[in-house]
Amino acid sequence: MSDDSSVLRTKPVEDVLAQAGGPDGEGGDDAHGPGRLTRRLGPFDLMGFGIGIVIGTGIFTLTGIEAKNHAGPGVVISFLIAGAVSLLAALCYAELASAVPTAGSAYTYAYATIGEVFAWIIGWDLILEFALGASVVARGWSGYLQELFDLPTSVFGEQSVVNVGAIAIVLLLGVVAVVGIRESARVTNTLVVVKVAVCLFVVVAGAFYVKAANLSPFIPPARPVEEGTSGLKQPVSQALFGIEPTAFGFAGVLTAAAVVFFAYTGFEAVANLGEETRKPHRDLPLGLLGTLAVCTVLYVGVSLVITGMVPFDELNEGAPIASAFEAVGAGWASVLVSIAAVAGLTSVILVDIVAMGRIGFSMGRDGLIPRSVAAVHPRWGTPWRITLMTVVLVAALAGFVPLTALADLVSIGTLFAFVVVSIAVPILRRTKPDLPRPFRTPLSPVVPVVSALACVYLMSNLSLETWLRFAIWMVLGLLVYFLYGRRHARLNAS
Ligand code: ALA
Repeated sequence: MSDDSSVLRTKPVEDVLAQAGGPDGEGGDDAHGPGRLTRRLGPFDLMGFGIGIVIGTGIFTLTGIEAKNHAGPGVVISFLIAGAVSLLAALCYAELASAVPTAGSAYTYAYATIGEVFAWIIGWDLILEFALGASVVARGWSGYLQELFDLPTSVFGEQSVVNVGAIAIVLLLGVVAVVGIRESARVTNTLVVVKVAVCLFVVVAGAFYVKAANLSPFIPPARPVEEGTSGLKQPVSQALFGIEPTAFGFAGVLTAAAVVFFAYTGFEAVANLGEETRKPHRDLPLGLLGTLAVCTVLYVGVSLVITGMVPFDELNEGAPIASAFEAVGAGWASVLVSIAAVAGLTSVILVDIVAMGRIGFSMGRDGLIPRSVAAVHPRWGTPWRITLMTVVLVAALAGFVPLTALADLVSIGTLFAFVVVSIAVPILRRTKPDLPRPFRTPLSPVVPVVSALACVYLMSNLSLETWLRFAIWMVLGLLVYFLYGRRHARLNAS
């Protein structure tokens, strides 16, 4: 419990609920804290945020790369597998989010179950995930916009020295995120309608061009990968157990599943809106599971149609969807796809920024980072200082650092958080058996354990290099914790 100074001290669930404004937002006792977020969101807003952050570069680029190099049309199965792993994690998130609806999400669940140092690690990890996610996607946004309107490459896209386009979009969306959660929801919902409509268009219009011959064999026979991977680039499973990555065959489908998992990352940001949702107990599970259901259906539909339109070995790696339409003589459709990509990427950046602010807010409220930075703006009702600080960081990264190589860090960070959230479900059931749980993960502890193992499996497919970068970030985080957070934690006073 919280009455010691151990790094494994936990924050009582009652405190978490009280700070969050009590169940469904009534009451609350956080008069000395940084202020309270305001409850302005309903279930459709949550799904809007979820789909807003999930559908992005993943489906628009990875589909082509993975079908061509690892899975053929079997990439459809890869999307199903990655969707299933995400679903297991989402079931765990849904239980914790409905029982303990808080802005800190995985960070706070860890604080209430496995202890402060793990909570810090998760918070630090999530900042990495959302900050890098937003920066990577802002650069992608700048590139797409450059192509769509033929803008100068000196300030837009990957060739620019200072990516002014990426900086501008981050700052603009930072302002939206600071001004209000309702405003952010409105912008996100509009962008989501555009990108979902275009995905549906791709499925329906593309279906007319599908040739059965392109889908057969559905999983091409296995063959060794052309350029073997070695050194820091090799997957951890190869470095540790000598399991060589395979192209095609079912093993290829699994390899592709680990990569396309990126396309699902982000849905868990819905859980960060627990203190801004009017009926969190009902709507958080709906938002989490609904987001995932919609995205899985769209991903499976889009990947099936694309691999049916063009033989998989002729798919374009950079812009597979737009090129598939060009290849069948429907070039006009590729403009629509590019518009969807720009809309899609815009909302990913916005929701990343919103989520980062909520995690920072929770860490500040707990005293693990200076409490003043977590202050909520009296009129806008948003954690404006921490949001602005993270926006400046993201703008700097997006403007100056070519981050493509770091995209895998987003996946490893997400998977790590999923492992912790999965483990937290059975722990909290044991430590707090009487806590009301409006949503219960089915078959616990089986589903949480399978979820954690599946995430570890996907992590083992990521490169040694990614693991090393992740480890460096974590060591930095632990330094900050021991030098600041541990001494200033609010729990010290209790
Ligand atoms: N899931 C998001 C994407 O695919 C990050 O871009």
